Amino acid sequence: MAQAPVNVTVTGAAGQIGYALLFRIASGQLLGQDTPVRLRLLEVPQAVKAAEGTAMELDDCAFPLLKGIDIFDDPNSGFEGANIGLLVGARPRGPGMERGDLLKANGGIFKPQGAAINAGAADDIRVLVVGNPANTNALIAQAHAPDVPAERFTAMTRLDHNRALSQLAAKLNVSVTDIKKLTIWGNHSATQYPDIFQSEVGGANGAAAVDDEKWLAEEFIPTVAKRGAAIIDARGASSAASAANAAIDHVHDWVNGTPEGDWTSAGVVSDGSYGVPEGLISSFPVTARGGRFEIVQGLDINAFSRSRIDASVAELAAERDTVTELGLV
Ligand code: NAD
Ligand code: LMR
Repeated sequence: MAQAPVNVTVTGAAGQIGYALLFRIASGQLLGQDTPVRLRLLEVPQAVKAAEGTAMELDDCAFPLLKGIDIFDDPNSGFEGANIGLLVGARPRGPGMERGDLLKANGGIFKPQGAAINAGAADDIRVLVVGNPANTNALIAQAHAPDVPAERFTAMTRLDHNRALSQLAAKLNVSVTDIKKLTIWGNHSATQYPDIFQSEVGGANGAAAVDDEKWLAEEFIPTVAKRGAAIIDARGASSAASAANAAIDHVHDWVNGTPEGDWTSAGVVSDGSYGVPEGLISSFPVTARGGRFEIVQGLDINAFSRSRIDASVAELAAERDTVTELGLV
């Protein structure tokens, strides 16, 4: 029997990331070449026309797996029956806007979207928040979906993970496929901590292979953590194709599993592992099996890593305090 299409809701569908993402979903790269998809595009009313243009282009690709496209400007309709929600649309920081203002503006987006997911999404809904500040936006959406298991809400740090893989591969002159068990900890922000102490490169320890703490502290970590800002500076717009690529990787691995002998990084609800306060959506080393992310347990965290993880987690806790004070969670 032919498989029923999977409903994929994409918010911010007319934006830059949306444009880089939708064609890859429709071509089968998100869920695999056996899985038909139906796209549900959610936009603000003034961007619906642009989304219609993208939908015309999607039609013009004649993707065999694409079984339909619907466009909405209301979250309740947009998330009706959704199996996968890619929450990309967010309010960017404007001139003179404080972090609290940004969190408040995004609360106005992610609160109703969380409620709409709670009200109408399919029972197996899985949510990836890409729109920044991604971890706290995911927390807001999750707080308004009390009937959905909290673990179904995740935030994207896969782009940071991929950036770290690339930087380490270049340093050691190896292929990215030679590197395993790299981790992004904490927030998708400049405080994030890309950790190579657990990593393996061709079977040897990655940090030992680098053997250069100055490079680690002064080049690798800041390059990965500030890569988003460097791209904005160079392109005049934030990363789009690489962000879309990371979203594809995140959901693909969540649904299909991570490779044996490796793990990836994702912002998931903390169960208190590694001293990260329960309930925060923080990046961890994760494996995926049977459609579930599991936090990798039992890693030894050295003092260098501990202080950096703690700093990023403190930022997440402060963001949670702010949105709690604003009544958003
Ligand atoms: P963009 O401005 O090109 O597009 C955003 C789109 O979202 C716009 O079309 C806008 O109309 C739409 N939108 C705004 N509010 C909406 C709402 N309530 N419902 C539905 N749609 C809404 O931005 P972009 O370059 O596509 O980036 C999107 C977000 O992703 C930004 O917040 C950006 O900072 C973030 N981002 C995250 C990562 C990551 O690694 N987590 C990486 C890159 C970018
Ligand atoms: C990125 O990491 O490229 C983005 O999150 C940067 C941004 O602020 O949009």
